[in-house]
Amino acid sequence: MEKIKFSAELDVFQSKSELPKPIQILMNKAIVARDKAYAPYSNFKVGAAILMDNNEVVSGSNQENAAYPSGLCAERTAIFYAGSKYPGMPMKALAVTAKSLSKEITSPIPPCGACRQSISEYEVNQSTGIPIYFMGETGKVYKAKSIKDLLPFIFDKLNL
Ligand code: THU
Repeated sequence: MEKIKFSAELDVFQSKSELPKPIQILMNKAIVARDKAYAPYSNFKVGAAILMDNNEVVSGSNQENAAYPSGLCAERTAIFYAGSKYPGMPMKALAVTAKSLSKEITSPIPPCGACRQSISEYEVNQSTGIPIYFMGETGKVYKAKSIKDLLPFIFDKLNL
């Protein structure tokens, strides 16, 4: 019997202002997107912004639905929009932020499992990782240099 071990690493920034300037700008765009979320059921607003290879930013927010499972997370709204608008264009970074209307979120909110799988589809199609920066409303920002640090042992097209 053998064992396989996975290791993952995150960088921790003490606050948004510690981020490199271009990433601060990207996170600010995620905040703008977050405020446009349609989240009347959870009151939990999430914004995501993607820096594309042409330096354009494509953003999205969570979009809920009275039939709850029909809603979509911010990360997938943004990444599917980016894939639709710029098919095949590499993505340089993703920023995510969340805000609850009932309490202040001071710790980083990581992308859900389904969003991780969706992000991985785009990352495997490009030669570089997609760094993911995520935070709550205030406080620390975590950075994963690649989706592989959030979703090890990924299922991708090579498995088909
Ligand atoms: N949500 C996101 O937008 N991204 C995540 O990664 C986690 C959850 C949304 C879905 C739903 O609209 C609300 O947050 C509460 O789960």
